[in-house]
Amino acid sequence: MKPKLLHISTIGCQMNVYDANQIAGVLAPLGYIGTDAIESADMVIVNTCTIREKAEQKAFSYLGRLAKIKIANPSLIVAVGGCVAQQEGETILKRMPHVDLVFGTHAIFRLPEMVRRIESSRCRIVDVRLSDTIDVDGPVAGPVSDGQVSAFVTIVRGCDNYCTYCVVPHVRGREASRDPDRIIEEIRMRVEQGVREVTLLGQNVNSYGSKEGLCSFAELLARVDGVDGLSRIRFTTSHPKDLSDDLIRTFGRLEKLCHHIHLPVQSGDDGILKRMNRKYTRNAYLEKIAGLRTACPDIAITSDFIVGFPGETDRQFQATLGLIESVRYDGLFAFMYSDRPNAPAAAFSGKIAESVKKERLQALLNLQETITREKHQAIVGQTLQILVEGPSRGLKSDDTDSASQPVRWSGRASSNHIIHFAVPDDLLTKKELLTGTFADIMIEGAHAHSLWGRLIRGPKNAAPGKGETTIAA
Ligand code: 5AD
Ligand code: SF4
Repeated sequence: MKPKLLHISTIGCQMNVYDANQIAGVLAPLGYIGTDAIESADMVIVNTCTIREKAEQKAFSYLGRLAKIKIANPSLIVAVGGCVAQQEGETILKRMPHVDLVFGTHAIFRLPEMVRRIESSRCRIVDVRLSDTIDVDGPVAGPVSDGQVSAFVTIVRGCDNYCTYCVVPHVRGREASRDPDRIIEEIRMRVEQGVREVTLLGQNVNSYGSKEGLCSFAELLARVDGVDGLSRIRFTTSHPKDLSDDLIRTFGRLEKLCHHIHLPVQSGDDGILKRMNRKYTRNAYLEKIAGLRTACPDIAITSDFIVGFPGETDRQFQATLGLIESVRYDGLFAFMYSDRPNAPAAAFSGKIAESVKKERLQALLNLQETITREKHQAIVGQTLQILVEGPSRGLKSDDTDSASQPVRWSGRASSNHIIHFAVPDDLLTKKELLTGTFADIMIEGAHAHSLWGRLIRGPKNAAPGKGETTIAA
């Protein structure tokens, strides 16, 4: 079978990155192989996101640009997947004559059949059916790339929380947890493919299994911890209301669980939290943070914030800044509130002017930047163990311009900080031994957005218990 070239563009969250991998996996048996070159592709799939207005606009403008590519190559199949596809369905076909296929968030496993139909009869198809189960027809893991150290594994799909600003329950469907045996099976497969770190994914991983009566999330983590050859476990995203004491204690206990939690708070004001339907108070959140730091004193904590939620007063925004000052996050993502279709907050009164949202966003980011700089400076001089991922992004492995500018590689500390380091010449020829191994880095410098240091020990085989390899730095 002559290979056909598939280009997948992914916009948005980690869930979409996972879905893109599955899409590649289900289309491989039809002869599709991945390409970066969109101009020579036989099919382009745009994996879209609609969590915020900006992401949706980005998806539509990207799709608009594909019209020209289709004029140059009329046999090109253009498909739209993900949350915008789920939300807009047929409207996309009407609005964009160059689009052949619109498939929703639950339709990935029906793709092969739909693509075959399009290939044979050039029909146009929309499939945005949602189902309540997740394991019936998938997911299966797609291909890994060369030297890929880390992989996502979905454990929960959809969300039942209905935060009032959020479109996710409307486009990803009801919450459904995967069977633990299937999860372990997928992780074992990833390890066999060379992956050393997995990130368990879900809109709200802490509620894993509760609806179906499966094991708890803490129990699942313990099972994942037992997978031979796996070095590290991460998970995202956690909802503060479902962060159990049991799960908090897990951080100090499981060897492979990284010392980092992403715990979105969204706002530091009780009135706003209530109208967001977040189901916790500022104090309850702060107690969870204190519990995490007691169980695991070096845990890194990151969060998400929304500024300019309808009705947010200046005093309420100041409460958010106060929360950031008291938690002193290791990092955060902050967004200006935007109305989303079907989300109740779209109908709330008291909409905040864009200029005010921008000012608040800037103030929040400035505050966090100061905190991040201070926290980064405190790391300078320490030695951190990292899992080596490969050449630093934007730099090529043979990017040696002078002795003072050695090749930079990077890896992640348990805290999720990305650390850049110079690779000694004698190790450069042994790249495969460096990627996916643990190395100790002495942190020598820091900016607001990056940390770098010197390789002082390593590489070590990343699978705990297997000892060091013969290479010494
Ligand atoms: N407006 C702005 N930010 C939003 N988020 C979700 N919905 C909206 C919205 N309507 C943010 C939240 C969430 C993150 C993934 O996106 O902070 O945690
Ligand atoms: Fe959206 Fe809230 Fe569910 Fe997160 S928990 S996906 S913010 S509804």
